[in-house]
Formats: sequence, structure tokens, C-alpha cells
Amino acid sequence: MLKGKTVVLGVTGSIAAYKIASLASMLIKQHADVHVIMTQNATNFIHPTAFETLTRHKCLVDTFDRDFQFNVKHVSLAQQADVMMIAPASANVIGKLAHGIADDMLTTTAMACKAPMLIVPTMNTNMYENPILQDNLKVLASYGKKIIEPASGMLACRDVGKGKMPEPEVLFQHILRVIAFDKDLAGKKVLVTAGPTQEAIDPVRYITNHSTGKMGYAIAENAMLRGADVTLVTGPCAVEPPMFVKVKPVISAQDMYEAVTEEYDQTDIVIMTAAVADYRPAQVSTEKVKKQDSDLSIPLVRTKDILATLGASKTHQFLCGFSMETQNMLENSRAKIAKKNLDMIVANNLKVAGAGFGTDTNVITLITKDFEKELPLMSKKEAAGCILNAILERM
Ligand code: CTP
Repeated sequence: MLKGKTVVLGVTGSIAAYKIASLASMLIKQHADVHVIMTQNATNFIHPTAFETLTRHKCLVDTFDRDFQFNVKHVSLAQQADVMMIAPASANVIGKLAHGIADDMLTTTAMACKAPMLIVPTMNTNMYENPILQDNLKVLASYGKKIIEPASGMLACRDVGKGKMPEPEVLFQHILRVIAFDKDLAGKKVLVTAGPTQEAIDPVRYITNHSTGKMGYAIAENAMLRGADVTLVTGPCAVEPPMFVKVKPVISAQDMYEAVTEEYDQTDIVIMTAAVADYRPAQVSTEKVKKQDSDLSIPLVRTKDILATLGASKTHQFLCGFSMETQNMLENSRAKIAKKNLDMIVANNLKVAGAGFGTDTNVITLITKDFEKELPLMSKKEAAGCILNAILERM
């Protein structure tokens, strides 16, 4: 995902410095070219060799190190960078950056760097809350630097409070958001539904289906990484929703209907991957239904068809539905395009190996009124990219 991208990581003196090895490793697994610059203090917490082994580049510490090729290293690295992240960022380095002090490799590179810069303040709570530090962060933000809020928790000094460096996975997501993919969906509002719905029978039981939400979550993430403003309306799912999307959790088909219709007018693209229940129990018992000796039948009534409702009142929106079938996939899916007034439907056959519920892969066919294309087996993340490409081409 990050092939051809250069990430410069600036590491300052904090115990959290060791965690940046995991971040570097995550970036390298996505094929980014990673360079690490450390302050002298940071080398007390993790040895530069750790970063050199991971990144296969010299880890830069001292501006006047003569032991590398002849170019003005801080300038050339600053120019190569697609993004620079300073994490952990100490109060000292934040103060220097805010006031134009460049007295070591890290701060001179930061001064020369025009790429987006992410700064991750990491320190004791009292230091973090100090108005001098807060003012310095405001100055940096006013120069367009992105400040990533520290987490709360137990700090190295055993105090509990704000100032902890967010976990490497979180920092990784921040970097991805800046440099993964062209921002071809910037300015677009995308609404994705995902997961199953649950239709209550009584306070204990409900009717649902096997949807895990993985396909919808992958689409929400891909759209977010491409710059869209994403709302994810999700039924109950075990997977973690992507960062940087607005999540609206819902339970029943009726809840989903209300959450979706509330967003619809301001939305440019709707992608309904949710496996919405077509029926719900006619009555929801307020008390637990006790078993009897006889059999039990539960009368069911139709839920609202959310997508059909959206199709009927469509103005500027691009509407994409999903269709999961076990037979006659193409005919059934084409019929849904007409019936629900859709611009596209993504069909999959539950019986095809690698497709359907719970898997990390899918085999999808993209169908519009005048176009049909079956894609090969691929990850749901890749399928998400193909679906959004197809939508953009048709908008
Ligand atoms: N859908 C919806 N509201 C419902 C049911 C489904 O918006 N109450 C959406 C799904 O999110 C999906 C598409 O409609 O995008 C699926 O169409 P549908 O005809 O409902 O598919 P099935 O339920 O699979 O159809 P059938 O039961 O007729 O096989």
C-alpha cells in the first residue's frame, strides 16, 4: 500500500521511543521506505542499530556525522519525505520546533521539510498540561503541523493521566491516512452500511444472520483513505471499525433505516453492504418467552426496504447495493437494480469458495444497467478499492 512512499520518523527522548520500532516495522511491511532520525537523548532508550536493522538505512543522530555519503543529508531527507512524524515528541523538541530552533539532525530536517508533519507529544501529564507546551502546540498547529493527541493511562513515572504515546497501530493509521492512495474521493460524503441487523423476539433472543461487517468496514476504510468524509452505519459486529470514520451503531433494521435516512440528503455515495433483515417479529415480548410443551410459531412482518426507499427519493446520490445469492445470482441481482433504482449492485454467490460471510476474501461481480464484470478472488480490502474505482468512473 505504501510502495514508493518515503516516511521520515523523528524519535526523541522518551521511554516510548522503543515502540517506534514496531511502527517502522508496520510501515516496512507495507513497502514504505523508512528513515529514522533520533535525538541524542532518544539513543538512551533504544539503540540506533535497532532502526538500522529494520529500515536498512543509517539512523541519523548527529548533524556533523561525516560517516555517510556526500550530500546535505537533512535537506535531501526532508525533500524525499512524503510525510514526517515526530513520535515520541518531547516538550523540548516541540519547543524548539515551535520557535525555529534547529540545532541537531532531527530539528534541522524538520525545518527543511515541506511534507505533512505529524507531531505526537509524549510526556508526563503536568508537562503536557503546562501552558507553555500547550502554546507551543498551538503555534505548530498554526503552521499547519498536525498534532496527534496523546492517550491517557499510566505513564512511565507511574502517574495516571494524559501524555501517553498512542499505540504504534494508531500512529500507523495516521500515517496511512496522509499518504496511502491518491485523494480521489476528497470532498465526497460516503455513507456505508455494514453488518447484520438484530430483530428482537424478547429481551433474550433475536433473529439475525451471519454477516460480520468485514466487506463494509473495508469499503469505509478505503473511502476514508482516499479522502472521503465517511459515515459508517453498522449493525452489531465483532470487528473494530476503521479509524477516522463517523460510526453510527444500530441494532435493528428500523434503527438502520432511521440512521441512513438522516444522513441521505448530504450524502454523495451510498454503499449498502448491510445484511438487513427482511422480516422482524410482529410483536416483541417485554418478558422472556417461556417454553411450553407445544411447538412455537413466531409471526413475522416485513421490515422497511431501506435501499428501495433511498432509490425512490434519489436526487444526486450514487446508490450501490449488495446482493448475496446462492442461485441465479446475475438475474436476481439485475432485477434488484431496476426494482430499487440503483446505479450499481455488487453481487456475490455464497456458494463460491472464498466468497461470502466472515472470510477475508470475496469473489464479486459488478453490475450496472449496461455493464457487468466478474472480478477474480481477492481480499475484501482489494475488492473495496475496485468497488470505489468503479463508482468513481461512473459518477
Ligand atoms: N436491503 C435494504 N433493506 C432491507 C433489505 C435489504 O436496504 N430491508 C439492501 C441490502 O443492504 C442490500 C440489498 O438491499 O444492499 C439487497 O437487496 P435484497 O433484494 O433485499 O436482497 P435480499 O434480501 O438478498 O433479497 P431476497 O431476500 O429477495 O433474496
